[in-house]
Amino acid sequence: MAQITSYFQNLNFSVEEGPLVEDDFHNFEALNLPKYHPARDMQDTFYCNDGAVLRTHTSPVQIRTMMSQKPPIRMIAPGTVFRKDFDITHTPMFHQIEGLVVEKEGVVSFANLKFVMEEFLTHMFGDVEVRFRPSFFPFTEPSAEVDISCIFCKDESTGKSSGCRVCSHTGWLEVLGCGIVDENVFKAVGYEKVSGYAFGLGIERFAMLIHKIGDLRSLFESDIRLLGQFR
Ligand code: DAH
Repeated sequence: MAQITSYFQNLNFSVEEGPLVEDDFHNFEALNLPKYHPARDMQDTFYCNDGAVLRTHTSPVQIRTMMSQKPPIRMIAPGTVFRKDFDITHTPMFHQIEGLVVEKEGVVSFANLKFVMEEFLTHMFGDVEVRFRPSFFPFTEPSAEVDISCIFCKDESTGKSSGCRVCSHTGWLEVLGCGIVDENVFKAVGYEKVSGYAFGLGIERFAMLIHKIGDLRSLFESDIRLLGQFR
């Protein structure tokens, strides 16, 4: 988290924070996720009794930042998030980093987003191929999921990834989501005549790949034999 944060701080991104217990407006509604919209099922939400939620992503910090600052905006939001999920690649509490850039209409495009993501991912993972796949997120249009060529089965002489268990024999690893900010998000925060891009990624997922950790849950078990390897 510190490594990614300082990478973006060097590119002049500010670091923003928001509450862990969020309201429906910031976590969903303003992010173009109206009540009863099926896309809400993409995230298994922990609900509190009063209708508040444990934030399911760091995206609500985009909304808070836009509502308290004027464009241009260039921010990241590192933080804890919660989802009802538990298996070898999921824990109910984990961490994300959100990114948002907003400029006057026409100043930034998908090309800028693509360049920034490619530079960032080669900084983090070294000499990898980066692939953008069309995808869906309610708060961005168009949206993409970004893959890197698998670092576990890469043949050092050809640079090609032939497929292995970690990449489900595809040769690719999914590492983040991103896109051009949907007009409805700007409407919700009262911004006009702007354009921007956003991205979001899971810290533990990056840690698993970089440190070759097989079970994500081991990051939270405080086993001294495991922790001792990361001095
Ligand atoms: N909030 C998304 C999630 O938790 C991640 C994400 C995807 C954030 C695309 C973004 C974005 O800002 O543009 O799955």
